[in-house]
Amino acid sequence: MSNVFELGFLGRTRELRLDRLPVMGRIPEWLTGTLVRNGPGTFDAGAERYRHWFDGLSMLHKFSFSGGQVSYANKFLDTQSYRTAMQRGRITYSEFATDPCRSLFSRIQSVFSPTVSDNAKVSIAKVAEKYMALAETPIQVEFDLETLRTAGVFTYEDEPLTGQMTTVHPVYDPEENNTYNLVTRYHAVSHYRLYRVGADGGRTMVGQVPSTKPAYMHSFGMTKRYAIFTEFPLRVQPMALLLWLRPYIENFTWEPKRGTPFYVLDRHTGELVGRWDADPFFAFHHVNAWEEGDDIVLDIDAYEDNQIIDAFFLDRLASATSALPFGHLRRYRIPLKGPRKGTKNGRIQYETLSDECAELARFDTERYLMDGDYRYVYASSINKTNPNGFYNQIVKIDVKLGKAWTWYCAGHYPGEPVFVGKPGRTRDDDGVLLSVVLDANEGTSYLLVLDAGSLAEIGRAPVPHAILFGYHGEFFGGAGV
Ligand code: CO
Repeated sequence: MSNVFELGFLGRTRELRLDRLPVMGRIPEWLTGTLVRNGPGTFDAGAERYRHWFDGLSMLHKFSFSGGQVSYANKFLDTQSYRTAMQRGRITYSEFATDPCRSLFSRIQSVFSPTVSDNAKVSIAKVAEKYMALAETPIQVEFDLETLRTAGVFTYEDEPLTGQMTTVHPVYDPEENNTYNLVTRYHAVSHYRLYRVGADGGRTMVGQVPSTKPAYMHSFGMTKRYAIFTEFPLRVQPMALLLWLRPYIENFTWEPKRGTPFYVLDRHTGELVGRWDADPFFAFHHVNAWEEGDDIVLDIDAYEDNQIIDAFFLDRLASATSALPFGHLRRYRIPLKGPRKGTKNGRIQYETLSDECAELARFDTERYLMDGDYRYVYASSINKTNPNGFYNQIVKIDVKLGKAWTWYCAGHYPGEPVFVGKPGRTRDDDGVLLSVVLDANEGTSYLLVLDAGSLAEIGRAPVPHAILFGYHGEFFGGAGV
């Protein structure tokens, strides 16, 4: 690689445990709790290298806050995938876009093989009162918040674990104390299944939607009454996954003629309410969704097509002129009493909320999850005047007025900005944003604390190494300090 941000994809991050990081500026006294962030700890296994940003072996990074101080620890997630890769010095399990080298006669792998990867590298959530590292593959890995050691596994469905995938974005309903997620079960006729997980870990299949050529879906929408499965036209023939001639995501093809159907399920009865179609688009992330009269409204971080996935191949990112496609916040409106599938001009419409690039979007979910009164979304972004390379700024978007503000510092690469609200807040953006930033000039990373109101820097806590570019984290208030 030859880019200034190459450190975000190179090497192997050491495991550290530091009781006290130096602090420049200040950390608010009220900020008490722990941020855990997931992502790759290395893209190397012996002499072999993974191919894509969504591959790599999971490492957890933990920043704990108390009394204006911050501690740090990081650790590879102790999984079968990690151990065998280290022991054998080669890639041993199939990941998103990388397969292990193997003979033609042992190709049947991963989704349809007994050796499902447990490399739960994508996100962090508390599900059924347990802290979990989450993967799209069916094995979710529980960890101890204090030690970051692996403590168990969780699956939505029982055996066979092969032939099922899920999302790393379960949605928690605080009124029910239940968590919901989408599981895709591949078969001759595949099914998108809605699961409900109770506080005791009990799992219920609430409802399902059949599909002969299922879509790659990284998240789903949820309102107080409904779950919405957005079936992007990035589709796979299940037989292709059975033959497994190429890595997982490369079995999917972009079929824009299919448009993008939205399936709406009543998440209490499991009933399929209906299907509404939109023009083709792709997204990783549903941001928020709610009901407004007879409409369902969904804010989605959308792309024109699936090119963003190809743009994350490491050899593409290594090019000095690489530029990522921009994700844009769009607001889709489903008229529950309006025209459905097959009606003339029945395609549902959207408005673009901002022309700023947004990805890994966050908001005040504690107060505004499933509530359309929310106003601010915070996201990783790309500076319009410095658009080459990787995500290099944080954006704050007013989704009511379309205004946007950015935090940008040349040579610094901030990850997902996690919003933590100040206790007792009355203003929507009264709180802080926590983001792990690579300072490419120094060759090290730091935890950045921004005032969510002004996007001004309040403080930063440097760590003594570079942290590879990761995906999602979660803040757990008052815990594990
Ligand atoms: Co995600």
